[in-house]
Amino acid sequence: MAESLRETAAWRRLEWHVREVQELHLRDLFDGDPGRGERMTAEAAGLYLDFSKNRVTDDTMHLLRRLAAERGLEEQVRAMFRGEKVNVSEGRAALHVALRMPRSRSLVVDGSDVVKDVHDELARMGELAERLRGGEWQGATGRPVRAVVNIGIGGSDLGPAMVYEALRPFADSELRFRFVSNVDPANLTRALEGLDQAETLFVVVSKTMSTLETIENARAARAWLEAALGSEGLERHFVGAAANVEAGAKIGIPPENMLRFWDWVGGRTSLCSAAGFSLVAALGADGFRSLLAGFHAMDEHFSGTALGGNLPALSGLLALWYRSFFGVQTQAVFAYSHALRLLPAYLQQLWMESNGKSVSVLGEPVAGDTAAVLWGAEGTNAQHAVFQLLHQGTVLVPADLIGFARPLEGPQPQHDLLAANLLAQAEALAFGRTEDELREAGADAETIPHRVMPGNRPTSAILAERLDPPTLGALIALYEHSVFTQAAIWGIDPFDQWGVELGKELAARIAPELATDWKRELMHDSSTNALIRRYRALRDGK
Ligand code: F6P
Repeated sequence: MAESLRETAAWRRLEWHVREVQELHLRDLFDGDPGRGERMTAEAAGLYLDFSKNRVTDDTMHLLRRLAAERGLEEQVRAMFRGEKVNVSEGRAALHVALRMPRSRSLVVDGSDVVKDVHDELARMGELAERLRGGEWQGATGRPVRAVVNIGIGGSDLGPAMVYEALRPFADSELRFRFVSNVDPANLTRALEGLDQAETLFVVVSKTMSTLETIENARAARAWLEAALGSEGLERHFVGAAANVEAGAKIGIPPENMLRFWDWVGGRTSLCSAAGFSLVAALGADGFRSLLAGFHAMDEHFSGTALGGNLPALSGLLALWYRSFFGVQTQAVFAYSHALRLLPAYLQQLWMESNGKSVSVLGEPVAGDTAAVLWGAEGTNAQHAVFQLLHQGTVLVPADLIGFARPLEGPQPQHDLLAANLLAQAEALAFGRTEDELREAGADAETIPHRVMPGNRPTSAILAERLDPPTLGALIALYEHSVFTQAAIWGIDPFDQWGVELGKELAARIAPELATDWKRELMHDSSTNALIRRYRALRDGK
């Protein structure tokens, strides 16, 4: 990264080039190039990416690859995979890729083979999970566990919850799974509905074991157990996962029930670590390994494939193209899959916590924009809610449309209707419908202005055969590395999240101030002071 971003030759050329491309319509790009739909594609780890319906030409892609080269993307990828301290502001490696390396590999970081450590911990997770699944793990009263409640937030919740929902057809149907994240007591209350204390195990996941929400929910879970079972043997109802295993003691989890992950695992990329223990319990050790194999296949592809055919790099380059050169504010993801309905929330943390930055790795203000807002919903539902704006609104929202050829639940003919909708939306967004076409179709003249579909709305389609563990692993890794690609080019640290700290500190300061008998003067701004007083009055009925 020798030169600053805007000084690179490729950046300067892209600034000119975008003006030409903005004048082009996808209709013309396809009319003038019959091979475009076949050529602008890439395939890896069971995923097929069609990026031809993006507002790019071959020159655009060439310039974006040059930009990546000038910004040293490939060297930055190598540095991450070697375990260098790429999380600069926290002085740490970001080695989520080591979590899914096969046992035969070795990666020595700070004198320790992290792949060996990973596999030792995976073996422990597997043993624990098999005891659970086999009914050998018994609670305080000697009854086997039948329900697992994952307590965690952010990366300690979104990944396990999303993957569990996505892969339910592969999960042990004898075990019930619930996920609790919010400090709102309603979350735990609802999650516990219908569960029997004697048969419930809590999996408390927190890298730091200090996160307010998780600690409070773990305490409340213990109180719920205690009310029915008394205080003896409750340790048999808890498993913990943390970077600091000793910290489990502060919520009463003994060391033998603690699973370990490491400082070099970021929260939002932790699902392949002990943070994913609930998934090992659901899918079994073999199922979890097959998820990891999918991640690893995409890791290998990302680190070993030239940019022109590299799915995560292409995805990252396109996102950067729209954000930095078209100036889009948002980007969307629509998975045509009910099972993947939690994917947008998962990707939001990955995308926005990673790249929502305004200083470079060197701590200097960034030159230009970083991450767009990522949002999304489940297809086809989103078509009946938000797609009107995508088709005819005044903002440009590049979108990824994700689909699968074969259903895991339900009949193929109905699934074909789902797929038809994905393909139709991509076509309608790209090509729209002109005034002439409407007139020819006999549309009422007065309605024509309302019915014209401008098109030229970009999408990338991601297709796979079916939503199974390796495919899902590959899909998640694709987005992890897409996010990394964008960060590497923008020159920001995608692995820290200092921006979330101030709010946590202020909440800790405000919490005691909400007490009815708080006597000291409130020292916030006038709005916060007034809101605190109003809250107390509303709560206390005064
Ligand atoms: O507040 C943000 C964050 O630190 C995320 O990065 C992380 O995934 C989440 O909180 C939970 O943190 P922990 O696993 O330490 O409880």
